[in-house]
Amino acid sequence: MGQRDVSAEVPNEASVAEAVATALAAIAQAATTAELSAAKYEHNGDKSFLGLANRAIGGLAPDERKAVGLLVGQARGAVNAAIAERAEALAAAELAAKLQAERVDVTLPVAQHPQGAIHPITAMLERVGDIFTAMGWEIAEGPELEASWLNFDALNFTPDHPARFLSDTLFVDPPEANKLMRTHTSPVQIRALLERDLPVYVVSPGKVFRADEYDATHLPVFHQLEGLAVDKGISLANLRGTLDHLAKAMFGDDIDTRMRPHYFPFTEPSAEVDLKCFVCHGESVGNPDRPCRTCRSEGWIEWGGCGIVNPRVLAACGIDTDVYSGFAFGMGIDRTVMFRNNAPDLRDFVEGDVRFSRSLKGDAR
Ligand code: PHE
Repeated sequence: MGQRDVSAEVPNEASVAEAVATALAAIAQAATTAELSAAKYEHNGDKSFLGLANRAIGGLAPDERKAVGLLVGQARGAVNAAIAERAEALAAAELAAKLQAERVDVTLPVAQHPQGAIHPITAMLERVGDIFTAMGWEIAEGPELEASWLNFDALNFTPDHPARFLSDTLFVDPPEANKLMRTHTSPVQIRALLERDLPVYVVSPGKVFRADEYDATHLPVFHQLEGLAVDKGISLANLRGTLDHLAKAMFGDDIDTRMRPHYFPFTEPSAEVDLKCFVCHGESVGNPDRPCRTCRSEGWIEWGGCGIVNPRVLAACGIDTDVYSGFAFGMGIDRTVMFRNNAPDLRDFVEGDVRFSRSLKGDAR
């Protein structure tokens, strides 16, 4: 468009002015940055009239060079200035158009996705895990489908111990495989002792299974937290201190614990741990005018079992019982949450209604 052959003629005022006019018209007409680039190439590029004119200057006689150089230089400068100005205007227009096209109407209603909530058991297990890891303990895990040897024999259960009965334990076919759904988290004690170097300080949260009723206070699947410490010079005092710390971290500083003598095959001596009722603080005991629903006016709530690890268990794991001793404890997590949150019915924990989780959210943490 409007190209002239400059090889034949020396650029003069008229031809340069015409080229500038053509270029400015094309620039003004460019409606997009892409069209503007094309116009720039066509009217001020190396092969345009002005580009070639610029190149021709070097071949001119010295007396012509200065005037033509000035003429062409000013012309190109004017064209470049027009291009820059147009480029800015086009960029601004294009940005405005883009912003307009991508406009978001923040007043439109949003799609409502129902939000879940952390289950109170999960929240409690995480909370307890944090309390122990803060003391340098580790979290250990074991399978829910467990070898009968790890669930019973290695824990010093005699072959005729009643816990092994079909009425208590869910065995898994075929019987000769000796597999069962673990009835407690204590087999993780054995796994930890077999797999880890001493000293061992582990807590192990997880599901356990028993052939139990399904009602407000029993679930056939529930959660336990197991703790095991094996080191040199471990005593009952360490166990007591650890459980007190856990109870206070979970229920607040004014909670009290007590131990009652008990029997477990894998601990000796053994005890059951109770929590002082944090609702009535024991004041409902023998006081029919002030009954307490939380502890059923007993003043204490059963929390779990504990004891000094039976040396036979340590020996079964190849540990020198003259050098090492340990303590262990295990408690029901569902019961703990129930107690802590005054939740009346254990079935709410498994029925999957998010409103239940939401109602305990934050509280259980
Ligand atoms: N495993 C026992 C139970 O399920 C609890 C327990 C754990 C007792 C560790 C002593 C030591 O009842």
